[in-house]
Amino acid sequence: MLRISALRLLGCTRSGRVSLLQESAPRYYGSCPLGARGEVRDGRAYFTTPIFYVNAAPHIGHLYSALLTDALCRHRRLWVPGAAATRFSTGTDEHGLKIQQAAAAAGLAPAELCDRVSAQFQQLFRQAGIASSDFIRTTEARHQLAVQHFWEVLKARGLLYKGLYEGWYCASDECFLPEAKITQQEGPSVDACPVSLESGHPVSWTKEENYIFRLSQFREPLRQWLQDDPQVITPEPFHRTVLQWLEEELPDLSVSRRSSHLHWGIPVPGDDSQTIYVWLDALVNYLTVIGYPDAEFKSWWPVTCHIIGKDILKFHAIYWPALLLGAGMSLPRRICVHSHWTVCGQKMSKSLGNVVDPRTCLERYTVDGFRYFLLRQGVPNWDCDYYDEKVVKLLDSELADALGGLLNRCTAQRINPSGTYPAFCTDCFPSKSGLVGPSVRAQAEDYALVSAVASLPKQVADHYDNFQIYKALEAVSSCVRQTNGFVQRHAPWKLNWESPVDAPWLGTVLHVALECLRVFGTLLQPVTPTLADKLLSRLGVSATERGLAELRFLPRFYGHPCPFEGRRLGPETGLLFPRLDQSRAWLVKAHRT
Ligand code: ME8
Ligand code: MG
Repeated sequence: MLRISALRLLGCTRSGRVSLLQESAPRYYGSCPLGARGEVRDGRAYFTTPIFYVNAAPHIGHLYSALLTDALCRHRRLWVPGAAATRFSTGTDEHGLKIQQAAAAAGLAPAELCDRVSAQFQQLFRQAGIASSDFIRTTEARHQLAVQHFWEVLKARGLLYKGLYEGWYCASDECFLPEAKITQQEGPSVDACPVSLESGHPVSWTKEENYIFRLSQFREPLRQWLQDDPQVITPEPFHRTVLQWLEEELPDLSVSRRSSHLHWGIPVPGDDSQTIYVWLDALVNYLTVIGYPDAEFKSWWPVTCHIIGKDILKFHAIYWPALLLGAGMSLPRRICVHSHWTVCGQKMSKSLGNVVDPRTCLERYTVDGFRYFLLRQGVPNWDCDYYDEKVVKLLDSELADALGGLLNRCTAQRINPSGTYPAFCTDCFPSKSGLVGPSVRAQAEDYALVSAVASLPKQVADHYDNFQIYKALEAVSSCVRQTNGFVQRHAPWKLNWESPVDAPWLGTVLHVALECLRVFGTLLQPVTPTLADKLLSRLGVSATERGLAELRFLPRFYGHPCPFEGRRLGPETGLLFPRLDQSRAWLVKAHRT
């Protein structure tokens, strides 16, 4: 019987890395046994998405970050029940020059733009089933308090000084750039203008007196941190990138702007002539959410896992840890980095007019369909290309045909007229392979299927743990294919319930297939919650039988009673996932125009 034992709730490894999920024997937090530090409470995990700029409407890239985080949280909650144990924050980044300029261009007061666009993010996330526990807006009073407190701590620790900053600033990326990262962009209609080499966004020359953070002091401690914990930044190539950055000098960082230039932000405490740099402001959101500066934040902070896009790696893997060390705090447990979605081979951008609107996608492909597509096709290590035909092809083949077809084949009235979970016959399918006897019907491939599905939850958990959700879905999909092969091989439609020879084997074939479907349904909950619910309900699996820690696959095979045997299946409620290619008139239309 498959039973993943004694889930250790917090999941820290000896090296101190937090695992997104861990099973088995005691794990250690640094060199301390779990919980020995007092501030770490059993079972907690805190996942965060970036907070998104409100200069423009959300696109599929933003939704992708939120979905990855949502799936990680939902998967963890299946192992560690209890809403209190897993926290998930997202939100909007509302201050800074970029927003100030976007509001001016739209002829709106900044606060009005923020309200509008933040509402769009909240609405999108609600629509997409993002089950976050917190949504933060950096314009909230609680956040101003946290940022100013954090500032005071840095100041009290001697890490801020006033100095003249002179250099390039890119408002779109909200970052300072050295001369070497600037290029001249020539356009047909415009004079050459300086732009960021990396993002192509315009930059402007800035010279002013600011507060400066002693970032240079932290180069060695940061290198040490990354060397001591090779998995803190996942996937590995991003970890390597950060170490490479740290081979160069780390200049001090300007952390404020003149208020006359940037008024839309949080004032420097005690100096109204300066506004706090938006990245310092934004990063502190992760602390605000968990109650900083009140002591309660301490029970969440040590179990933090940031999910971010590769574009903001430097801010999260260099500036943020340095600021935290500066404030005398511990560092996030993990930073999970993903790459970008492009559209038909091009970078998504407002100016190219190729931004994919996630709301339309959720309507066209259904919420679960589009969630499945993004998480199945999105690979953290590389950029992924989006186009509509790819979505249709994937969903039709994996959700409609393979999974939906399998369910249909095993539950249809024609094949399963009693509408119950049939019994498993151990004579037909003995737990030892290779036995011969008059009633033995199972073949070597059938044993391979059982062993593949039995190890699937652990495999899936490991993939989640390594931030490779697409691999988890690939593994599920491959087992679905294998199960279809099993059904095809034994062609239950050719067996007869009335025949005493056929009946036990027919029941067994259906029982095994339904057990496989129960595992798939359970494992798909984090990605396609509604579809998984439909599947599990059809199988007659109750709400309290859907956790992962209690999932026991095919217990009869392993000599245990099966609670499902003989149970009535749930009501028939139509196709699990209707094929899209028949309903995609919009696609054809789009091509004609
Ligand atoms: O950078 N593909 O906000 P932002 C995949 N406010 N993900 C993408 C993407 C794409 N094409 N484009 C954006 C900011 N993202 C700051 C963050 S955090 C303290 C402050 C996702 O609105 C990805 O997660 O520019 C990326 O890191 C984030 O959106 C940037 O969103
Ligand atoms: Mg951006």
